[in-house]
Amino acid sequence: MNVFVFINILVSMNRTILLDKRPVGKPELSDFRFIEEEKPSLKDGQILLKLKFVSVDPYLRGRMSDAKSYVPPFELGKPVSSGVVAEVVESKNDKFSKGDFVSGMLAWKELQASDGKGLIKVDPKIAPLSAYLGILGMTGLTAHLGLSEIGKPKSGETIVVSGAAGAVGTVVGQIGKILGLKVIGIAGTDEKVELLTTEFGFDAAINYNTTKNMAQAIAEATPNGVDIYFDNVGGEISDGVLANINKFARVVVCGAISLYNATSIPMGPRVEPLLIKNSVLMQGFIVSNYSDKFSDSIQQLATWLSEGKLTNSETVVDGFEHIPKAFISLFDGKNTGKLVVKM
Ligand SMILES: NC(=O)c1ccc[n+]([C@@H]2O[C@H](COP(=O)([O-])OP(=O)(O)OC[C@H]3O[C@@H](n4cnc5c(N)ncnc54)[C@H](OP(=O)(O)O)[C@@H]3O)[C@@H](O)[C@H]2O)c1
Repeated sequence: MNVFVFINILVSMNRTILLDKRPVGKPELSDFRFIEEEKPSLKDGQILLKLKFVSVDPYLRGRMSDAKSYVPPFELGKPVSSGVVAEVVESKNDKFSKGDFVSGMLAWKELQASDGKGLIKVDPKIAPLSAYLGILGMTGLTAHLGLSEIGKPKSGETIVVSGAAGAVGTVVGQIGKILGLKVIGIAGTDEKVELLTTEFGFDAAINYNTTKNMAQAIAEATPNGVDIYFDNVGGEISDGVLANINKFARVVVCGAISLYNATSIPMGPRVEPLLIKNSVLMQGFIVSNYSDKFSDSIQQLATWLSEGKLTNSETVVDGFEHIPKAFISLFDGKNTGKLVVKM
């Protein structure tokens, strides 16, 4: 083979990450497979997209199993997909120009062709590109809409946030402070606990890994009880919080990461008498339930961000080849704020 042809093939190689096996318990690197494909050629109406940032999120774990859910499972032997920001590098579509940046759900593929449907243009002059995957994207919306629509916060109330140092949790806590709540966070390390109270303005924080009696620790941190519980983790941490729940409290069931890798669901306390006795509302939700409110919510988040009332926190991992490892690290608590992979 001519050396120039060989170099050209190498340059146009396109790495793709497939789901090779359905994880059992915690996902492993061997559940994913890397392949190399040729660079796609464009048809009329299509754009060629190059990944810039990839969002790794706990909910992807659910899509890797074949259990029935609100989104179809990933297919074995097919590319994994998630929220991404990509650059338009070629365009045969009037709506997009070379150099535009877009966000949307795309495959873990360095280069891919798209007809542009479902993609939103994003502007790096307004916010860093990665922010469109976090505070100005799905996790920011989840925090804001979960808290406002279900939590219905009133100034002076007390909120407890689990998974507090993560993408959703850091935003919930900060919005809580903007709205005049007393905010208590729960996270997995002393460093995160320190950050919550210094960087993010939480009133107090608890390290669940070093706390023997969560119910007692919550009681000590919330002398007036818990009016809102924004739950990102479920399991034993939630049992401790619910033991301190107030009359007419709202429990926002956003996530249950402590159970996502469980091969059998552990038995917890029966909460029904507690909910009845205290007239508590406990509601699960999927952020897309509130899609009609996305535009207003993003505007509000962007305003708070520009006013310096919200701090954007990210953990950035470098390199396409590290996407699976970054995803798995969510279950080890390696991130603070939104975990994104930069190409
Ligand atoms: N309902 C929706 O529409 C919606 C949308 C987005 C996200 N979510 C859910 O919201 C939750 C947070 O998502 P995120 O994107 O913000 O993730 P994240 O909090 O940024 O990252 C996950 C964090 O979870 C904690 N964690 C991991 N395993 C845990 C365990 N066994 N027990 C307790 N904590 C554990 C870790 O922090 P520590 O160091 O503190 O352990 C880790 O950093 C997830 O459950 C996710 O599925 C729901």
